[in-house]
Amino acid sequence: MRFHILTLFPEMVMQGLMTSITGRAVQQNKIGIEAVNIRDYSKDKHNRVDDYPYGGGAGMLMQVQPVYDACSHVLERIPEQAKRRVIYVTPQGTPFTQARAKEFAEQDDLLLLCGHYEGIDERVLEEVVTDYISIGDYVLTGGELAAMVIVDAVARLVPGVLGNEESALTESFHGDLLEHPQYSRPEVWHGKPVPKVLLSGNQRQIDTWKREQSVIRTRERRPDLYERYQELQECREMLIKKKLLHIDMIELINRGRALLIYRGQGQILLKDMEYEIYFHACVDTSLLPDAGNWELPVKEIPLVVIHQKEMIPYFTKKYGLETECECYQAVCTRHEKLPVRGLYRPDLTREDGLYLRRLALTDLAQVFEIYEGCCDEEYLSSRIEKGMLVGAFYGDTLAGFIGQHCEGSIGMLMVAEGFRRNHVAAALQTYMTNLMLEQGKIPFSQVVTDNKESLGLQQKLGFYLSRDTIFWMEAEKQRI
Ligand code: ADE
Repeated sequence: MRFHILTLFPEMVMQGLMTSITGRAVQQNKIGIEAVNIRDYSKDKHNRVDDYPYGGGAGMLMQVQPVYDACSHVLERIPEQAKRRVIYVTPQGTPFTQARAKEFAEQDDLLLLCGHYEGIDERVLEEVVTDYISIGDYVLTGGELAAMVIVDAVARLVPGVLGNEESALTESFHGDLLEHPQYSRPEVWHGKPVPKVLLSGNQRQIDTWKREQSVIRTRERRPDLYERYQELQECREMLIKKKLLHIDMIELINRGRALLIYRGQGQILLKDMEYEIYFHACVDTSLLPDAGNWELPVKEIPLVVIHQKEMIPYFTKKYGLETECECYQAVCTRHEKLPVRGLYRPDLTREDGLYLRRLALTDLAQVFEIYEGCCDEEYLSSRIEKGMLVGAFYGDTLAGFIGQHCEGSIGMLMVAEGFRRNHVAAALQTYMTNLMLEQGKIPFSQVVTDNKESLGLQQKLGFYLSRDTIFWMEAEKQRI
C-alpha cells in the first residue's frame, strides 16, 4: 500500500509519519509514504499556487494548474491495474470512520490532497477527486493533520504493520461499543485497586466484565452509539429464536460488525461493515413478504445470505441475484475447547510429525495445488495475507488447510489426497474451533448441503446442524 500526500508542507507530514509505527512500517517496506510538494508544480515565476476567488469573499484559493499537475504526475507513476483513490480532505467531506479506513486499506494507492487557504478551485476537484473526507466537525488550518490521521488509521490495518501476533488471526474487531477501562501494575495506586475480577484468572468472568464495562461506558459517553447497539441487541433477541439457522447474523452482531439496514415487517437486513455482504432473515414467517407490495429500502445488493427459502424469488426479481450455494449452518454451542488428544499436542505437533501453523504467502503454490473448493485464487491469497488460513504439514509438505471466511465462518477446509483418513481434517477443524473459542467467538461453519464428508466431520466434533438451510445469492460471478 502506498500513500501519496499532496501538500504545501511536505516536511510537516513526513516528520509526523516517519516516526513510531508508520515510520517503522515504511522502513520494513510494509507501506510507502511520499509527500509531493504542490508548489513544485507551479508555473508561476514566483512559485505562487493561490489566487483570489471570483465573486469575492475572504481569503485565497489554491489554483487548478499546480494541483492538477501534481496529481497527474503521481497518477502517471501508479501501475494501471492498481486500485486507487484520490481523497480530498475537507471539513465538507463525509465523516471518516473505521469502516472507511477499512475500505481504503483495500486499495493499492491512496492520494491525499491537502487544501490550504480557503480551499481549492472546484474544477480540479471535480476532475480528480474520488472521495471527500472530513475527520470531524471542526476546521483545521490545513488538510495535513487530517491526511496524517487517515494515513495512520489506514496503515495500521495493512497486514504486517502492527506486527502483533494476535492481530493477525483476530479479524479486526471494531464493535459498536467503546473499549472497557484497562489497568496495569501497580495493583493499588493512590488507594485505587485494580478491579478484582481482572486478577481472578477466570477468562469467562473477565470477558463478561469487559463487555459490561464497555456497555456502561458507551451508554455514558456515546448515547448515539449506545442507541445503535440496543437496536442490534433487539435484532439479536429475535434471531436467537432460531439460533442455529441465524448464527452468522448473530455472530455478525456479537463481533461488532453488523450495520442494521432495515427492521420491520418481521424482517431484518444487516450489512457487514467490513465487506459488501448483506444478511437477510425473516424472523416472523407469517409475514413473508409478497414481492408485489413490499420493498427493502436498498437499491443494490450485490451479495446476500438469505435464511428463508421463500425469499429467493424476491431477491431474484428485485435485485437480479442467483442462488450460488445452499448450506447448512454447523454450530459449536459449547464454551469449553474441544479435546485435542491424538490430533496434535499443545505445541501443535503430533508424534507422527504432523504439525499445524499459520500459512504465509510463500505457501500459496501448495495451497492452490490441493484446493478445489468454492472460492478463487485471489480470495484465498487475501485470506492468507490476513493470517486467516492454517495449514497442516508433514515436513515441508502441506497435507491440508482450513481458514476463516471473511464473513466469519470456518471454511476452506481441504485435505490433500494422500493424507485423507489421517485425522488431518479433524485436527484442523479442532484447532480453528478452539482458536475462535479463545477469541470469545461462537465457531460455526457453513456446509454445502451435498458435502456429506464435511457434514459428518462437523457432527463428529459436536457441531449442531441447522434444520433448515441458508442460501448465498449473488449478482453474476463475484465471490469475494
Ligand atoms: N481540513 C480542515 N479541516 C478539516 C477537517 N476537519 N477534516 C478534514 N480536512 C480538513
